Amino acid sequence: MKGVLLAGGTGSRLHPLTRITNKHLLPIYDRPMIAYAVEALVQAGISEVMVVTGGTHAGEFLRLLSNGEDHGVGRLLYAYQDRPGGIAEALGLAERFVGDDLVLVMLADNVFGRSIRPTVERFQEQAKGGRILLAPVAEPEHLRHLGVPDLGADGRVLRIVEKPADPPSQYCVTGLYCYDPSVFEVIDRLEPSERGELEITDVNNHFIADGQMSYDVLEGFWGDAGESIDAYYAVNDHVRRFGANLP
Ligand code: G1P
Repeated sequence: MKGVLLAGGTGSRLHPLTRITNKHLLPIYDRPMIAYAVEALVQAGISEVMVVTGGTHAGEFLRLLSNGEDHGVGRLLYAYQDRPGGIAEALGLAERFVGDDLVLVMLADNVFGRSIRPTVERFQEQAKGGRILLAPVAEPEHLRHLGVPDLGADGRVLRIVEKPADPPSQYCVTGLYCYDPSVFEVIDRLEPSERGELEITDVNNHFIADGQMSYDVLEGFWGDAGESIDAYYAVNDHVRRFGANLP
């Protein structure tokens, strides 16, 4: 199984901090943000990783991660997204790297308190379709900034609504996605959303409509450090006190 870390975007929600660097290079406690995402993949047993970045600070990722050796990555590749075309478009850049393999995609601003290994192992058994990780989120105001699943009475995901005005459940879709290689055909057929981007939620809704999407519910802490300056500090506080990616 290959790993793809998405570390592009303009980071506009963290301006002006992100005017002088890439969001995923900002510190979380004692390390640049992306180091936690790399660690999460490595701990889940993934040794071939592609980092997709963009913008004006891409070279710093090489300075930090180099060939991956010091971070436990067996083979590390880089791709460059030359316009803000969305998460799904960024993933599309990894098509040849992933080949016929399964792929774990992670938004590199997402930090998990516990290891993501259980989801990876379950998807390797599943070996087809997609798998997402949901996190319980109580506050509707928070859910309005995220992707939110509509869950049927039997617990199945009926669809995912991106940034819903009226959240259909009290769960969010975290930035961790497992797919079989058919995901690249799905991306090829996507139409840009209203904001002109290829949306990962549209990819997920495609797998849901095909009856090929499963999910896990997260145990422990999850935070999207890029969501707002308050979320960034909440993740910092948590990691400083309790750590991240714990077994
Ligand atoms: C993205 C996804 C959203 C998901 C979130 C998790 O949102 O579009 O569905 O809930 O990541 O971090 P973004 O952070 O790009 O607004």
